[in-house]
Amino acid sequence: MSASGTFGHGLEMRHFVPPEKLGAWVSKTVTMRPRHGNPAPRIQETEAGFLNSIGLENRGVESYVSDTLPSLSGIASVIVTNIGGHTPESFAEIAAYLTGQEGIHAFEVNLSCPNVDQGRLPFSTDPPVAEAIMAGVREVTDKPIFAKLSPNVTRIGDMAVAVEAGGADGITAVNTLLGMGVDWRTGAPALATKMGGYSGVGMKPVALRCAYECVRAVKIPVIGCGGVRTAGDVLEFLAVGCRAVQVGTANFSDPGLMARLPEEIAGLLSDAGFESLEEVIGRVDRVPAHA
Ligand code: FUM
Repeated sequence: MSASGTFGHGLEMRHFVPPEKLGAWVSKTVTMRPRHGNPAPRIQETEAGFLNSIGLENRGVESYVSDTLPSLSGIASVIVTNIGGHTPESFAEIAAYLTGQEGIHAFEVNLSCPNVDQGRLPFSTDPPVAEAIMAGVREVTDKPIFAKLSPNVTRIGDMAVAVEAGGADGITAVNTLLGMGVDWRTGAPALATKMGGYSGVGMKPVALRCAYECVRAVKIPVIGCGGVRTAGDVLEFLAVGCRAVQVGTANFSDPGLMARLPEEIAGLLSDAGFESLEEVIGRVDRVPAHA
């Protein structure tokens, strides 16, 4: 799957990755009203990934329905619309607005954008709040709903339990880590908002640990996300128990990457003597710690 915010709103990237090659296309977050996003600079490359503070820029749900969704009709792929809100109630509002729309197969509920609300992450650090948001969305749609969680918490397993109780069908683990950059000579922050979300290969061990904690905490499937750029990375997330994996930051430097991954994964599995992907899923808990 593509990770939200890294592969367009619709199928803008289909010339790099044929639609049917992906398990699912996940949109950039859509909100009820258009958002201009945060002031520039709002992106900076780092030694191992990048910082962003986009601020959920998007053209709003009306434009998504009239301009983006029609371009997805008849496409042989699963479309997951990532939805955002500024209050707990506004998540249910946008889910209700979109649930009748053809062409959307599932919602990913973005509880965890670190680039709004001064990085306070009000929807992804408090289990009762996250549970209530997912319950509100659950009430208005029969489509599958995934909760996208933040790594910026002490016990992500508690967040996972909460969103499962709220009715989530799956969990995406995880969004970006809160980070910052600064020019020590001038004192200028790398991002106008000073802090932003860090993503990329450097966060993979954190994301893997978060995904594993979620897998252990809940029965619903977990979608791994964070620092994935190779077939081996995908298999690592499956080995800790994820049922699907998203690729994000790596798409910016290698937009054709996801089209190659299925064959590369099959090659790694066969070289290592595995007969199916299922043998890898959750493997970390089936072998002794030092095997
Ligand atoms: O700033 C942004 O639009 C990022 C969103 C996110 O990380 O969820």
